[in-house]
Amino acid sequence: MIAITRKAGVLSLLLPVLISCTDTPVREEKEKDSFTAQVDSVLGLMTLEEKIGQTVLFTSGWDVTGPSMDDNYREYIENGSVGAVFNAFTTTYNRELQQVAVEHTRLGIPLLFGYDVIHGHRTIFPIPLGESASWDLGLMEKTARIAAVEASAEGINWTFAPMVDVARDARWGRIAEGAGEDTYLGSLIAKARVKGFQGDDLAANNTILACAKHYAAYGAALAGRDYNTVDMSENEFRTTYLPPFKAAHDVGVATFMNSFNDLNGVPATGNSFLLRDILKGDWDFDGFVVTDYTSINEMVPHGYARDEKHAGEIAMNAGVDMDMQGGIYMKYLKQSIQEGKVSEKDLNDAVRRILDMKFRLGLFEDPYRYMDKTREKEEVLSEEHLEVARDAARKSMVLLKNDKEVLPLKQGARIALVGPLVKDEKNIIGNWAAAGDREGTAVSVFEAFEERLGKDNVLYAEGCKVLGEDTSGFKDAIAVARKADVVVMVVGELEGMTGEAASRTDINIPGKQKELIKAVKETGKPVILVLMNGRPLTLEWENKTADAILEAWWPGTMGGYAVADVLYGDYNPAGKLTVSFPRAVGQLPLYYNHKNTGRPIQPEDPDQKYVSRYLYTPNTPLYPFGYGLSYTSFAYEVSTDKQTLVPGETLTITAKVTNTGERDGEEIVQLYVHDKVASVTPPVKALKGFEKIFLKKGETKSVKFELTAEDLKFFNPELEWIYEPGMFELFVGGHSDMPFTHTFELKTE
Ligand code: GLC
Repeated sequence: MIAITRKAGVLSLLLPVLISCTDTPVREEKEKDSFTAQVDSVLGLMTLEEKIGQTVLFTSGWDVTGPSMDDNYREYIENGSVGAVFNAFTTTYNRELQQVAVEHTRLGIPLLFGYDVIHGHRTIFPIPLGESASWDLGLMEKTARIAAVEASAEGINWTFAPMVDVARDARWGRIAEGAGEDTYLGSLIAKARVKGFQGDDLAANNTILACAKHYAAYGAALAGRDYNTVDMSENEFRTTYLPPFKAAHDVGVATFMNSFNDLNGVPATGNSFLLRDILKGDWDFDGFVVTDYTSINEMVPHGYARDEKHAGEIAMNAGVDMDMQGGIYMKYLKQSIQEGKVSEKDLNDAVRRILDMKFRLGLFEDPYRYMDKTREKEEVLSEEHLEVARDAARKSMVLLKNDKEVLPLKQGARIALVGPLVKDEKNIIGNWAAAGDREGTAVSVFEAFEERLGKDNVLYAEGCKVLGEDTSGFKDAIAVARKADVVVMVVGELEGMTGEAASRTDINIPGKQKELIKAVKETGKPVILVLMNGRPLTLEWENKTADAILEAWWPGTMGGYAVADVLYGDYNPAGKLTVSFPRAVGQLPLYYNHKNTGRPIQPEDPDQKYVSRYLYTPNTPLYPFGYGLSYTSFAYEVSTDKQTLVPGETLTITAKVTNTGERDGEEIVQLYVHDKVASVTPPVKALKGFEKIFLKKGETKSVKFELTAEDLKFFNPELEWIYEPGMFELFVGGHSDMPFTHTFELKTE
């Protein structure tokens, strides 16, 4: 219990009067400054110190997600020097902190409570990269909605999600947190996740502020090394990395988080091109920008600021509204304003943005609205939420190989479960798992199989650890394999091997797991690999050796059940990769929508030397973007309604898809288009549409895509967003690595 030493906040007495005498206009969709009058009234009461206080965010000691700079956050709240706290949750704890702010500071301005609710709060869903493989926008909105319901039931009103960084380099551990390598798909997923977190009304007590991060181009860190340099043309930036942020903005994301990296020599934290020209200028963004963890301080080691005070001036002048954990705005902003290095006008703008969000959340009306103990008891880890988590996990899984239909598992088959992740209940919920429990709430694969087969009907051996050289467990693994009809091996990474500060130079399955697979395979039994990992791995040897491979990612709280559901065919897997899986780490960065170069490999002369290639390794991925198998099969018949498209008209592509197998199943029907000639070298193909359909066995459905000239635009050398006349080709299929089947001409006169 915090010692309550201050008299009630003046504002908390004034506030009801203040609000009632200010007519709040009915909020139109995304109307700017809807609480202008109230915000200006509060701003007018504030001292310079209190204004600076609103721009300060500190972590509580409850959960720590980075190097702790300063843990006097309670004292800071008491003297009005903090406007927001993160990593704090539960209604009891957050109410304590909110009471200090509202009832014991001069103005009683309520706190924001932020947290990394990335893929669930207590009920944990698959990691975002895994969930993106469902290509199910409705599902991703729903899981974000549930995450917001649970987080807001525990005192949280702001999440630092969605992470919308396009990522093409599997060495980068944070590829786990996003939606993969494609800008078009990533933009749609960004929208879905923002809508899920924010709902239709921020004033509702189960919706929370979302945060588009990490702005911007953080996923392009050189060599996949986290926090590393990012340098690219503005054309590439606007084509590939910026659109998902614009998509989040277009659906009203409340906040942005700037990234750690520098972009073309200017740290994102001090980058007015990003923050003032694009975000607050061109886009007219009316939310607020928070830094990443101490990223203002880091402009000193970036070599961009002389010292921390200078870094604070650069950040505020560039358009950063709130300092996460750095303590720089708190320490230096007053002096910088007094010296004229920063304008109070810019500070006022930052404070207005922050106060406006607090009004929009309804915090001034009821600062304790997110601290309802009844909700905390009833709406967290509910059966309904857990069922959605199981469904999301099933839909995120990608069947990469299934030789001789070894899957689905036959009822009655004697199963051996082997591998270091069979009984895992910690890593299975992945990294950035918020308040997810790692001590027994999650369902392991072992638990799911025991429930399904009975306690004494599951053979098991760990075999080895994820990391380490110890192979003494191999003999038990071989022994149980010999007694079984089929061996299910659960292998992969530790969750801490992906996520932040987790780049790898080698993306093989680590430790002695590969040797374990080899030893088990040598028993002659069919081997099914279930992968738990947060990034694409190099699996050429596994792809040759295993009879089946299921990519399960980190599937979350209900992951074990979902694995069993898929392996036994209760759910026919339909996931499709949103990242390319390389054959070798040396191929990275690797992505499907690459350029052709002037010396592409000619299919008719694959061994030609002087072309863009590696010695001894093909250019192609082992598993391409958009790839995933099913227990059934699908046939496509594609037609277009015209061969010439003119602006204002629509080209309709019809794909008749038939389920040609023996099982009902879902198919993610994908449309790829190639601009054959353009004034900026075009990608060899680009995803332009997709639709997930369910087909009973034998059933046929038609999927229609409509293309207009608008869909064929790109940034020309002058950075104009235009289309150009010329020839295009397209195909519709179940993944990205298929031949073009139709052409059309875009005519502009
Ligand atoms: C971390 C991450 C960011 C996260 C923040 C708060 O350093 O980069 O994604 O939201 O700090 O935990």
